[in-house]
Amino acid sequence: MRHAEFNDPALVMVYDAAFGWSRADDFFLSVVNETPAARVVDLGCGTGRLALGLAAAGHTVTGVDPARASLDAARAKPGADRVTWMEGTSAVLPRAAFDVSVMTSHVAQFFVTDEEWRQALADLHRALVPGGRLTFDTRDPRARGWERWNPADSRREVNLPDGRHVTATTEVNAVADGVVSFTIYYAFADGMHLLSTGDLRFRSEDELRSSLLAAGYAVEQIYGGWNREPAGAGDGEFLVIARA
Ligand SMILES: C[S@@+](CC[C@H](N)C(=O)[O-])C[C@H]1O[C@@H](n2cnc3c(N)ncnc32)[C@H](O)[C@@H]1O
Repeated sequence: MRHAEFNDPALVMVYDAAFGWSRADDFFLSVVNETPAARVVDLGCGTGRLALGLAAAGHTVTGVDPARASLDAARAKPGADRVTWMEGTSAVLPRAAFDVSVMTSHVAQFFVTDEEWRQALADLHRALVPGGRLTFDTRDPRARGWERWNPADSRREVNLPDGRHVTATTEVNAVADGVVSFTIYYAFADGMHLLSTGDLRFRSEDELRSSLLAAGYAVEQIYGGWNREPAGAGDGEFLVIARA
């Protein structure tokens, strides 16, 4: 199933157990904290890890995601009542309601076509107050991260909260025109096998800058790593901060 990792409750449990709070979350929390008591929208909030962390830090947070199973997991977590959860895409965002918008763990790469990306940036711009900030991460194509999405390098062992064990591996199916198509295979210790397919768009720094400019943003920073290294250095990431 396409993007089953966010839509199938069994795989949502795996995603949630595999990806805990990380230095990426520290980075985004620090960016949001530059706006005290911010109204924040977390687009593609998934199972809510960052949204809940932002709310715990005193921000007023809305988490938006089209994947109901992921939102269900988010809503079941301690502190979830401090966050407003919305099922949907950027299309559901209210106008001029947020000081900061975030997209984390490479949500930006899920907008595969130029039109999808243009629409998401426009919707987020509409949702921000004038001068509000957009921040997100997207992988730098120069790091060619997909070359490590093979069974050996991508193998991940995950212990689930219910005591079960899962092995997850990723394989690339195709790389074309900046789009990487891949499959994640899940082998549960009890013999169950599931898979999830997906496509991610890798955009260059020039593509990011020109699309942000066209959508009405001023680019403040594009870092290359979680310790705010320059683009091209660091972690093979683009960490973008732009102002509406
Ligand atoms: C890699 S997960 C990241 C989840 C969360 N931000 C985190 O840090 O764990 C990508 C998320 O993007 C969501 N997503 C996919 N397509 C989307 C779209 N068009 N609009 C908003 N979110 C989308 C998925 O449902 C999924 O929850």
